[in-house]
Amino acid sequence: MKNLTVVGVGHVGLVTGACFADLGNRVVALDTDQDRIAGLQRGELPIYEPGLEELVGRNLEAGRLRFTTSYAESVAEAEFVFIAVGTPGGAEGEADLKHIRQAAESIAQAMIAPLIIVNKSTVPVGTGDWLADIVRSHQRVSIPFSVVSNPEFLREGAAISDFMQPARTVLGSTDPRAAEKVAQLHLPLRAPIMITDLRTAEMIKYASNAFLATKISFINEIANICEALGADVKEVATGMGYDPRITPHFLEAGLGYGGSCFPKDVKALAYMAAEKGRHPQLLQAVMEINDDRRALLVDKTREMLGSLRGKLIGLLGLAFKPNTDDLREAPALEVAQLFSSEGARLRAYDPVAMDRAAELFPEIQMASDPYSLAADCDAIVVCTEWNEFIQLDLQRFHDQMRQPVIIDGRNIYDPKQMARLGFRYAGFGQGYGPDGMPLSEPEPARHEERSL
Ligand code: UDX
Repeated sequence: MKNLTVVGVGHVGLVTGACFADLGNRVVALDTDQDRIAGLQRGELPIYEPGLEELVGRNLEAGRLRFTTSYAESVAEAEFVFIAVGTPGGAEGEADLKHIRQAAESIAQAMIAPLIIVNKSTVPVGTGDWLADIVRSHQRVSIPFSVVSNPEFLREGAAISDFMQPARTVLGSTDPRAAEKVAQLHLPLRAPIMITDLRTAEMIKYASNAFLATKISFINEIANICEALGADVKEVATGMGYDPRITPHFLEAGLGYGGSCFPKDVKALAYMAAEKGRHPQLLQAVMEINDDRRALLVDKTREMLGSLRGKLIGLLGLAFKPNTDDLREAPALEVAQLFSSEGARLRAYDPVAMDRAAELFPEIQMASDPYSLAADCDAIVVCTEWNEFIQLDLQRFHDQMRQPVIIDGRNIYDPKQMARLGFRYAGFGQGYGPDGMPLSEPEPARHEERSL
């Protein structure tokens, strides 16, 4: 059992703190946001993450986890302090490290005994050395400490299982003994533990996310080619995936990647490369392909409907991916802006993210369920592949719509079934014939064209 402090109670910090507590450690989770901490002390979570509310509640109850806003109260008794604060990206891709700086200065002023400072935040390569300089220059008296880089590989919606069953634990430090002590903390996870230097550990995080993003842009480029040649990209991905060097993972074509990590991390890595005069050719292409996906969905819809002006478009899903309420860099939000700019009217449904979306987009009507979303819509565009959308009664869906048009941004439906049901359907890399046109027979509009 060890005493840990975790600084930052966002997705990474809260999951890390709650999981380390569940492993039997005594954890103090710290944040400077008083409201957020007060809510957590009442067991109210600021984020949606399956299983986290129960995990936090259980460990609060057991006295293994507590929340505070005070560095003095928490750092003093800690052997390890984990930094898990946000590192938002700037316009050019450079990382904003102000929260890391604030945490480092506060830790330096609060520490009264030797400390191991473990950085979980995604930071530009070289930040570990910068962090050590800040701590050293802000200590009241010189107290020994070490910095260890321990990048996180947590997917939103699967963060607890990703923490408890990691593919690997990566540690980097100039102090092997400190790295070894952090490794001991991770032994109960029974996963491979890699100890390397600070810069390499920081780079492993960026390279991993950039590679996953590259797989996504690769399959999206293949989807574009499949559409022109009448091949089915889902079948292509399945056939490719049997190769253990490829695997079927992260080969789902569609609207592309969003979220708080991939867009920021790919851009930051490209920025670091360019700053050192190494032109990030492939990373630029990965970003360009991904950016084009949103406009492509609008193009497909316009091709199906003719003009978008005055048409009612239903957005099925808003969150950047299923099992989260996170809207950061969600493709649906950019799609909404593009549709609005062409004069379309918007309605949306999402099982979890609608409240947050309503704050961001008050002009979008929010529907209470998928069927009321579909009522009188000229087209439905699938933006997030929530499971409940896959099980919908599609005949009822069809009958609710003004025009039975579905643009499937996440390829959740079967093109042949959609054609049988009378939908005019377009997927991303599926549902196209050898002539490059959508398979479904265009059906004359079932209502006379009312002036809108
Ligand atoms: C990612 C990494 O997976 C995780 O290891 C890292 O720590 C944080 O960033 P996350 O952003 O939560 O996790 O979600 P992830 O499941 O990786 O999906 C990222 C984006 O890619 C989502 O927008 C998702 O819709 C998209 N995606 C994913 C695809 O478009 N196609 C795929 O095949 C997989």
